[in-house]
Amino acid sequence: MELTGKRLVQGVTGGIAAYKAAELTRLLVKQGAEVQVAMTEGASHFVTATTFQALSGRPVFTDQWDQRMANAMAHIDLSRQADLIVIAPASADFLARVANGLADDLLATLVLARDCPLLMAPAMNRQMWENPATRRNVARLQADGVGLLGPACGEQACGEIGVGRMLEPEDILDAVLAFFTPKLLAGKKVLLTAGPTFEAIDPVRGITNLSSGRMGYALARAAQQAGAEVTLVCGPVALPTPAGVTRIDVRSALDMQAAVMARAAASDIFIAVAAVADYRVAQTAEHKLKKDEGGLPLLELVENPDILAGVAALENGPFCVGFAAESHNLEAYAQAKRQKKNVPLVVGNLIQDGFGGDDNRLILVDDHGAHPLPPASKATLARQLIEHIAHLMESR
Ligand code: C5P
Repeated sequence: MELTGKRLVQGVTGGIAAYKAAELTRLLVKQGAEVQVAMTEGASHFVTATTFQALSGRPVFTDQWDQRMANAMAHIDLSRQADLIVIAPASADFLARVANGLADDLLATLVLARDCPLLMAPAMNRQMWENPATRRNVARLQADGVGLLGPACGEQACGEIGVGRMLEPEDILDAVLAFFTPKLLAGKKVLLTAGPTFEAIDPVRGITNLSSGRMGYALARAAQQAGAEVTLVCGPVALPTPAGVTRIDVRSALDMQAAVMARAAASDIFIAVAAVADYRVAQTAEHKLKKDEGGLPLLELVENPDILAGVAALENGPFCVGFAAESHNLEAYAQAKRQKKNVPLVVGNLIQDGFGGDDNRLILVDDHGAHPLPPASKATLARQLIEHIAHLMESR
């Protein structure tokens, strides 16, 4: 749980996206955050306080004159207790009120009385978002240091299409996680490979490896949240690109090598997570091989280049991190791979532990020896690995 011990106020204002705010509450609580929900009167026309109370496990506040606060200072008490205030959804009206410092209901008052950062996820009709008044309010909020999340572009509840949709709850959660992540890689460029490669035999067949891409994606996300500029070169996987990450899709090992080598010299860190196919077919058939045309086909294979070793051999190249997926003797193989490829850090993972799933078990092998990480989710392990890389780079 990445938000354990963090105290959040989630503000919900009046807009149809308020129904998605309930999912955000659930995700925040699932990450261990203490979530205090405060709603505007408008929000309660779309969703009830009971929904948020059930999800957050706390009474919800809407009323400035709430009798539950003995000192009648709900606005001060609620904002003082928070590490962060997140308004999702933030209506056009609420943006306007905060931009102008109004304090005409409990939520606006506690925002004005805050001494913690404020993130807002706007949600409104596209024309309202484009209106010069909203543009002015947004510019004012940004100048005041308010973090704006989105809005996204797409289909709107009114049937129109454009910019104004609230970011999905998962994306808002990501932004909250990023907010709390120490910026250990600020100013650093991180290049990663992830997923399998696919080596074509003919137009419909190929050789590939099993790799979900999840570990590479978790690392790309963790590096981005740690403040790095992240480029992810990935083979065929079915995963959404992490927010703020530049993704380059490739298919074969040769494509992956070309994409990596074009960017490696300008990167500070290279993390090779991809399960690159060791061999490719010497000659890809232009047409589909037919089963009934003369006996069993014979495939001539040639070895693929080792992308990681190639980057590690660059003069003044990036800090290189490799992965060793093994079924046994993890530490010994990881150590051997570190020497063979000449990289400062190799991350060993047991194949039976993590393949395709959300959890994994890792052992980090570097100059100082082997450090096993306890079993955890790929997101947690990714954050720990990024911290380890940042410390190794610092001590160089
Ligand atoms: O040699 P092996 O495939 O076990 O090495 C695994 C590590 O090397 C991983 O970090 C993988 O991404 C990288 N690798 C590579 N290019 C290859 C083979 C592996 O970058 N052709």
